[in-house]
Amino acid sequence: MQVIKRKKEINSIVKKLRKDGKKIGLVPTMGFLHEGHISLIEKSKKQCDITVISIFVNPVQFGPDEDFARYPRDFERDRMLAAEKGVDIIFYPEPSEMYAENHLSYVKVEKMEKVMCGKFRPGHFRGVCTVVLKLFNIISPDKAFFGMKDFQQLAILKKMVSDLDIDVQVVECETIREPDGLALSSRNVYLKPEERKNANVLYRAINIAENEIKKGNSITASKNKAVKMLKDCAFVKKIDYFDIRDPEDLKTVKKPDSKKPKILIASAIWFGKTRLIDNKVIEV
Ligand code: PAJ
Repeated sequence: MQVIKRKKEINSIVKKLRKDGKKIGLVPTMGFLHEGHISLIEKSKKQCDITVISIFVNPVQFGPDEDFARYPRDFERDRMLAAEKGVDIIFYPEPSEMYAENHLSYVKVEKMEKVMCGKFRPGHFRGVCTVVLKLFNIISPDKAFFGMKDFQQLAILKKMVSDLDIDVQVVECETIREPDGLALSSRNVYLKPEERKNANVLYRAINIAENEIKKGNSITASKNKAVKMLKDCAFVKKIDYFDIRDPEDLKTVKKPDSKKPKILIASAIWFGKTRLIDNKVIEV
């Protein structure tokens, strides 16, 4: 396994591999790898000849009051895990390698970046799209693997790829969960033991909304029942949103439509000082 820190170097390595007919899979990450990331790596290994992962805590997608500085990092552990899982190349650039001092260009997917998490994290998806497009340009993967855990990110990146005619296939990967339902996240390490014990309330609330909708109850009533469950949990400090939306364009769904059977239930809550997100796409 190679660890490459320079854009030019990885670009020429990957160009040569493609010339030799190798299919390249890219798994973009911010490191502190867990089973969620590993599931993307495993999928890439199944579908591609060469698996590249990027490890880069992208400063541009963090707001000024967010957790960029304290975001968990452990490159040695990540390097060992990646090697164990058969990753071929880790791209591990410094921020100064990714962003020149005079960087001025950003990518925005309008409307979709303003709702849900975008409403509470202004500029976040602009940062995500910019870094992911840069990674696509540097590495030119055949396929790129993203988790449904970050559903809005996935929907926005799919739209960016389609709108801007980017020659890469986006592969969606299922959310990996703890046995109690909590979605794996690098940020789960922030949870105190008592918080961790209760953190699956988010997944339980999403399941309640799903059951209510499937029983034929209205979207509003179903959402209210889920929100009540969250409000009744003492550890939930704030509910940023609990939304029922179209999984493709992220527009609000007011009532189930048989022509569009798929519905996204998505929520973000503050659990103490930790922001948790989760979602589920259901079929009605
Ligand atoms: P990060 O949070 O490190 O996640 C990297 C990839 O792993 C994303 O595609 C994310 O959806 C996926 N992932 C995280 N938790 C998962 C889980 N429990 N199950 C399945 N997949 C999971 O998302 C980012 O980094 C960044 O925004 C990035 C795309 C790298 C751009 O900086």
